Amino acid sequence: MSTVLILNGPNLGRLGSREPEKYGTTTHDDLVAEAMQWGSDLGLEVVVRQSDSETDLVHWLHEAVDSEWHVVINPAAFTHYSYALRDACALLPSAGLSIVEVHLTNPATREEFRHTSVISGVATGTIAGFGVDSYRLALEAISARLH
Ligand code: DQA
Repeated sequence: MSTVLILNGPNLGRLGSREPEKYGTTTHDDLVAEAMQWGSDLGLEVVVRQSDSETDLVHWLHEAVDSEWHVVINPAAFTHYSYALRDACALLPSAGLSIVEVHLTNPATREEFRHTSVISGVATGTIAGFGVDSYRLALEAISARLH
């Protein structure tokens, strides 16, 4: 069975109470439960981790490469400026693994600084604007690429 590591960046641990008018009322724990269910429906093992630290996210991306896990990543604010995260994300496609960038909101419709993603250029693809469903769509995209 293929494994997909879902990584959530800074402030996403506050889902449910963080600006619910933008990010919705689903908590991070709810998201974990839903993602595990979507994974099991698709025959994928899903592991979900969240950190506010760039270092943790980079190390987990290295672990994904070494373990041959596909990745779904919501880099949150790091999307817009973290070259360290971009370089770590770039390791996946060159190892034959999928990496899907996801966002709950559509950053292109928001403040100017959110219009730049330093991650998109190395991702297999990006899904944005569908709330927590962005994660389901990302898992479906990875599953479709595997079959
Ligand atoms: C986000 C969009 C980012 O601009 C923001 O910094 C986030 C969440 C999203 O999921 O819509 O923290 O990645």
